[in-house]
Amino acid sequence: MSDKVRQQYELLPYPARDPRDEAQRLIEGSPSHLLELNHYLYAGARDFTQPFRALVAGGGTGDGLIMLAQHLKDAGCPAEIVYLDLSVASRAVAEQRAKVRDLDNITFVTGSLLDLPTLDLGQFVYIDCCGVLHHLADPTAGLAALTAALAPDGGMGIMVYGTLGRTGVYPMQAMLKTLAAYAPAPALTATNQLATARDLLKQLPATNWLRRNQSIGDHLAGGDAGLADLLLHPQDRAYTVPELAELVRGAGLEIAAFIEPWRYDPASYLTDPSLLHRLERLDPIARATFAEQLAGNLKRHIVYLVRKGRAGGAVAWPDDGMVPVLRAGGGALADSLKGRSNLKVSIDGLEVRLQIPPHSAEILGAVDGKRSIADVHRTVGGTVEALKSRSAFKPAFDRVYQTFNKLNRLFLTRGAA
Ligand SMILES: C[S@@+](CC[C@H](N)C(=O)[O-])C[C@H]1O[C@@H](n2cnc3c(N)ncnc32)[C@H](O)[C@@H]1O
Repeated sequence: MSDKVRQQYELLPYPARDPRDEAQRLIEGSPSHLLELNHYLYAGARDFTQPFRALVAGGGTGDGLIMLAQHLKDAGCPAEIVYLDLSVASRAVAEQRAKVRDLDNITFVTGSLLDLPTLDLGQFVYIDCCGVLHHLADPTAGLAALTAALAPDGGMGIMVYGTLGRTGVYPMQAMLKTLAAYAPAPALTATNQLATARDLLKQLPATNWLRRNQSIGDHLAGGDAGLADLLLHPQDRAYTVPELAELVRGAGLEIAAFIEPWRYDPASYLTDPSLLHRLERLDPIARATFAEQLAGNLKRHIVYLVRKGRAGGAVAWPDDGMVPVLRAGGGALADSLKGRSNLKVSIDGLEVRLQIPPHSAEILGAVDGKRSIADVHRTVGGTVEALKSRSAFKPAFDRVYQTFNKLNRLFLTRGAA
């Protein structure tokens, strides 16, 4: 079956990318944003002046690869990133993108991640595997192969499809298989299959679950490659949170964080205190499971993983010496919060208003990626009377930190990232 998967990505590398666009923009996302992986895997304390070996397994056309390589280059890190993928056509796109950006910290390898034990690529302190495990006949074997290549104190960022958010996808795949089985001559080509998919999409009745699913838009907007990846894939499966937790547990790993954290928190969707109270004692996986069932629109799960027993020490904590850093565009965020008590977030068909804590604008306005939390206090305390004392500032900061960290906008470092 792996041959069919390879053929799919030789024919239609996904996501489709034009290397020339690298001159205009950097695509940033999750997993593998350097601030994120430092925060969730290295307690914010990774020293990027030291060597860093990463593997991007199933690197495809290079989105995660290029972001990680660029971030490490910008951090002045003596890094080596190994790109591994079955598809030569995808690798060609990724290589071209690296060339346009003058990135010389990447080694390109064509092959299967299942062959890692014999590829002799060494150990890695970080492994990215985004959108790949769910295409394997045996994802458990895939994660085991990755884990064997992971340094003892290393971590991974992975993405697998989410079952509820993909509601309607699998019945549509099944219908297209039926139509393919009864296709008239000429031979069944990818072009014919794409045309059939488009014809059927146009005629879906209003009650069809794919038509009703508002979270699938990006794949459908992704041209031929997006459509094929969504509806004509020879092999894919999706995971609920408990199924993902089981996969992770089976590999001797544990989940350090779900991205974006707010989407895995029932409190992001519920306001009734009596309902929320009953959920307080749930462990993080059970809370994430409830949030997934409640939201219904999680079409992919992005998680950071560490070896079992390490999650507690792997995730950064807001002590006074830590340096808070906003993801790109942070200044504009602080400005946009002035005088507001809530923030509108729209994602995958859902629009929610999330409460933002008092003084968010002032506190985030003082966050510049250089000041420690203690320095942020000195800066804000000088102008905001209510935040002058430490006993007033610290809980106010913690609330702001929790809110914007959950939104995946605010991270902590020891100052080196
Ligand atoms: C959906 S694409 C994701 C690409 C990239 N990680 C991203 O997020 O943009 C899946 C990629 O996994 C690759 N792949 C599938 N099975 C693989 C395997 N056993 N070993 C290595 N790569 C594999 C495919 O060739 C394809 O490029």
